[in-house]
Amino acid sequence: NANPLQDKLGRPIRDLRISVTDRCNFRCSYCMPKEVFGDDYAFMPREELLTFEEIHRLTKLFVSMGVKKIRLTGGEPLMRRGLPDLVGKILSVEGVEDIGLTTNGLLLGQHAQPLFDAGLRRLNISLDALDPELFGKLNGRGVEPSRILKQIDYAKSVGFDIKINMVVQKGVNEDEILPMAAYFKERGITLRFIEFMDVGNDNGWSFEKVVTKKKILEKLQTVYELEPVDEDYFGEVAKRYRFKGSDAQVGFITSVSESFCSSCTRARLSSDGKFYTCLFATNGFDIRELLRGGLNDDELLRAISGVWEGRTDRYSDERTEQTAKNRKKIGMSYIGG
Ligand code: GTP
Ligand code: 5AD
Ligand code: SF4
Ligand code: SF4
Repeated sequence: NANPLQDKLGRPIRDLRISVTDRCNFRCSYCMPKEVFGDDYAFMPREELLTFEEIHRLTKLFVSMGVKKIRLTGGEPLMRRGLPDLVGKILSVEGVEDIGLTTNGLLLGQHAQPLFDAGLRRLNISLDALDPELFGKLNGRGVEPSRILKQIDYAKSVGFDIKINMVVQKGVNEDEILPMAAYFKERGITLRFIEFMDVGNDNGWSFEKVVTKKKILEKLQTVYELEPVDEDYFGEVAKRYRFKGSDAQVGFITSVSESFCSSCTRARLSSDGKFYTCLFATNGFDIRELLRGGLNDDELLRAISGVWEGRTDRYSDERTEQTAKNRKKIGMSYIGG
């Protein structure tokens, strides 16, 4: 589609982030704290989830509006059964130029090869620390970092392009910045430092807990020489730097200190078929109801297009301690980041 649909602020629709499940095998404190997501937590029943056929149909409609990039998320997307079939279906849609998956990596041993065979090439893997005790605490399940590192090596050997996501929280894993940088630099894998965000309603966020890009960069520069790299495409989320004299890079996702709403081209679809125009939205537009209510493609397209055309979201540009506390937001594990 040469003319992507634009929202009220002139931002084209380019990316669709699809959450395929609200479940996860981790309990990261900032996303699915154990006190909230306990043993009796009611996850979505299966019939609430969009089927792969429904996701395939919606992908075609979104691509006709201008979407070129798809990202599969969760919860933990590898917990959704049959994921390679979905990858194949999405890649069969003409106009899809790129598909990636964001995962905690734990289940890659079983899934990396079938996903690669289905055509997936890009993985973003979350890892917040190399220290076993700290990482076990952060993931809420006592999982050792060595298990994730092993899966990263394995996925690399399968042929994947890999990036690592590290959420940095002040006083929690700041001391992991340099060890993480050293480890992934040596392996030529891009590590991206993510400023801790006030997603959801119960992750205990405050400005004080954010370690900004500036601070992280200063820390890295005590050891390394870094040079900025041009963005790959309009609206790239991460700002990247290269270690001088090496191909290895690091990135920064600066939703708090340098928000990037003015170039935000991302639409989000929850696993139960709600369409969100911002990660910090309060309400979604129920597409599933329309899908299952028997609307034809034209009618569906008109409804979805109208939502994007009316979009004015720029939450991170407007964030204050007050909005962070008082606004009722959708959960991170529900919308997938
Ligand atoms: P690629 O650049 O395609 O590799 O993926 P990505 O970085 O967009 O996706 P990923 O799922 O790895 O997300 C990395 C971090 O960026 C997560 O913490 C996301 O929540 C955050 N992020 C992605 N898109 C947005 C956005 O539109 N707004 C905000 N505030 N954060 C975002
Ligand atoms: N702030 C920043 N990033 C977060 N993620 C989850 N919760 C937060 C938060 N509060 C990250 C995960 C994963 C990606 C999808 O979003 O670590 O890498
Ligand atoms: Fe699971 Fe990712 Fe949330 Fe951690 S951040 S609980 S791995 S969905
Ligand atoms: Fe886009 Fe909302 Fe993130 Fe801003 S805060 S970049 S509008 S998703």
